Amino acid sequence: MTTVELPKSENGLHGTLTVPGDKSISHRSIMLGAISHGTTVVNHFLLSDDCLHTIGAFRELGVAIAVDGDQVTIEGKGGFNHFTKPTKPLDMGNSGTSTRLLLGFLSHQPFDIDLFGDASLSKRPLDRVIKPLAKMGVHVTATDDNFLPVTLHANPRLRGLDYQLPVASAQVKSALIWAGLQAEQPSHLTEKLITRDHTEKMIAQFGGHLEQDGLEITVTPQDHFEAQQITVPGDISSAAFFLVAAACVPGSQITLKQVGLNQTRDGILKALDQMNAHYTITNRSTDSEPAGDITIGYQALTALKLGAKDIPAVVDEVPLIVLAATQARGTTVITGAEELRVKETDRIATVTEELTKMGAKITPQPDGFIIEGGTKLHTATTPLDSHGDHRIGMMLAVANLIAGGNSVLNNADSISVSYPEFFNDLDQLR
Ligand code: S3P
Repeated sequence: MTTVELPKSENGLHGTLTVPGDKSISHRSIMLGAISHGTTVVNHFLLSDDCLHTIGAFRELGVAIAVDGDQVTIEGKGGFNHFTKPTKPLDMGNSGTSTRLLLGFLSHQPFDIDLFGDASLSKRPLDRVIKPLAKMGVHVTATDDNFLPVTLHANPRLRGLDYQLPVASAQVKSALIWAGLQAEQPSHLTEKLITRDHTEKMIAQFGGHLEQDGLEITVTPQDHFEAQQITVPGDISSAAFFLVAAACVPGSQITLKQVGLNQTRDGILKALDQMNAHYTITNRSTDSEPAGDITIGYQALTALKLGAKDIPAVVDEVPLIVLAATQARGTTVITGAEELRVKETDRIATVTEELTKMGAKITPQPDGFIIEGGTKLHTATTPLDSHGDHRIGMMLAVANLIAGGNSVLNNADSISVSYPEFFNDLDQLR
């Protein structure tokens, strides 16, 4: 366990920063690169623990992947069916995205594949993917039918699927798209709510074709993708830590360069709008996905309301919104966020427990939070704890900046799951 003293800021955050590449897009670039014809080059790839587990899995499947700084080069196999049988179980580490997506991606291989993960990942449900895959003819032996470790059995035939997703989850949707591409008939997937669409966008970028009509996606079997050169935009979920810090610490004014602005991911900006925060977006660009520079400064914030339909676009940023709400005028109510209970930790429980140590007034609900605003946060009365959850660790570092306190954080090493350079980048701004 690594314990760190959390940094303080004297006069707010200032300066310009480029945050690391988007985690969701980085994972998917390895997957599409691996099945494409030719050599894919990915610039500004996120070299964090989670994405390294995806790289490790594909190397084990016989894919040549070279890493040079944050540029990753993938030698495509030219289809889904040219992988080699792994000589050992694939290690998913803490990565829910690798696990869920690979269950679909590898659902049509001529050999069994074993997957395992760390203690926290091994408590996260997989039946949301295993059940629809079973309808397609995929046989997965999972611990208690729901958890890692699992064996994904050799499967020569995949049936098309007609399916309404019971949870709003891009991970489940993506797993089923990967499987659908390899099935013998078309598949029709209907989402409950729009979730992040990086898989769909990247399939199109690599020359594939999906039909989309509102919440419905039709996946036609296809196996021909062309290698690409792509640049991954900055991860808006990583940028969010600094956006909230700057909005809440008096005197702050920062610019974050080329942050991803995919509309299925920009809920943090909409939440900041509702809270009366002031930011501007300049230098808009589109490589693989839309991006832009975001400039934001301190502003007195007001309470907000978030409901089920708002959650998918902000699902990873809810802990930060709760923190910002402790500083806002009025009472914030967040509902429809029950998915937080099955993230890297039960984030409704861990956010409440940890911020309460700093004086926050939060009432957890089965599906969200009620947060009393206008609270002066203080140094935590006992050490803060990430509970092994990267986003909880970074949110608490922002909370300590807001408190101007001297809190310490236990289990700080978990931050490397998505943002190994987090404290160095924060140092650049404070
Ligand atoms: C992700 C989807 C989200 C998100 C996760 C990454 C993805 O999970 O929380 O960090 O890359 O598809 P769900 O889609 O299961 O909500």
